[in-house]
Amino acid sequence: MNFTQAEIAPLASIEEWEDDILVRYPEAEKPAKSKEEYRNYDDPKRETVKEFYRLNHTYQTYDFVKQKQAEFLKFDKKEMPIWDACNFLNTLVDDSDPDTDLDQLQHLLQTSEAIRADGHPDWFVLTGFLHDLGKVLCLFGEPQWAVVGDTFPVGCQHSDKIVYPEFFEANPDSKDERYNTKYGVYEPNCGLRNVDMSWGHDEYLYQIMKDYLPEPALYMIRYHSFYSQHREHAYDHLMDAHDHEMFEWVNKFNPYDLYSKVPTPPNVKELKPYYEELFAKYLPATLKF
Ligand SMILES: [Fe+2]
Ligand SMILES: [Fe+2]
Repeated sequence: MNFTQAEIAPLASIEEWEDDILVRYPEAEKPAKSKEEYRNYDDPKRETVKEFYRLNHTYQTYDFVKQKQAEFLKFDKKEMPIWDACNFLNTLVDDSDPDTDLDQLQHLLQTSEAIRADGHPDWFVLTGFLHDLGKVLCLFGEPQWAVVGDTFPVGCQHSDKIVYPEFFEANPDSKDERYNTKYGVYEPNCGLRNVDMSWGHDEYLYQIMKDYLPEPALYMIRYHSFYSQHREHAYDHLMDAHDHEMFEWVNKFNPYDLYSKVPTPPNVKELKPYYEELFAKYLPATLKF
């Protein structure tokens, strides 16, 4: 499928999606906005985020996901040492205000440093550092809505707990009998390992990391954008007992991703040796993208 530039990049910055999640899921104690308040949230960015979800929900079909898996899980695009991959990700520049937005590497480091400060195991820290590396998909020319955005299972009914569920009306799968029932192509409680998720940076990075990190780390990476489950519990009927156990880690990870942003950029130079050591402990010298 060929997309226009407006369809490839509806957002000025992929950060607009994450900023929007913060509005939807504000930090604990602060009262959550009601659905109505959320929708009327007065910000011009809201309209571009809405358009972003319209595109995401329209085009992320079962077939689209299968096609992206075939295209990207060959890992024949680029081979890089991890630090080079981070620097590559940082070449992702967008139209947003460079003075107020932290770059990609800074978000990774703030996430991982917040995890480290709380005394978690080193593989958890490493996971915080790596979790968004899959966003390099943007640099391979992929549309924003096929890199970021809330993820959801494809091949079965879309939950109305997914943000802007009305946009699924335009998704051909919702008219397709194979895919529009509660279980669709799946069996009850078949386990998420048997479920295809909408395509994006989570699944892509999971596939790159799956041989190297402990299982809780892999769950955090693979499902960190699956808000309709880890926040709304909309897909319990596809999960098995093991998924539920592992989602405790996904839940543990999420606040670090969402609420670790502080305006002071971390000192990359100072932190680099610690992370180089972590890479050496768990990962091969280069990764294939
Ligand atoms: Fe992410
Ligand atoms: Fe993130």
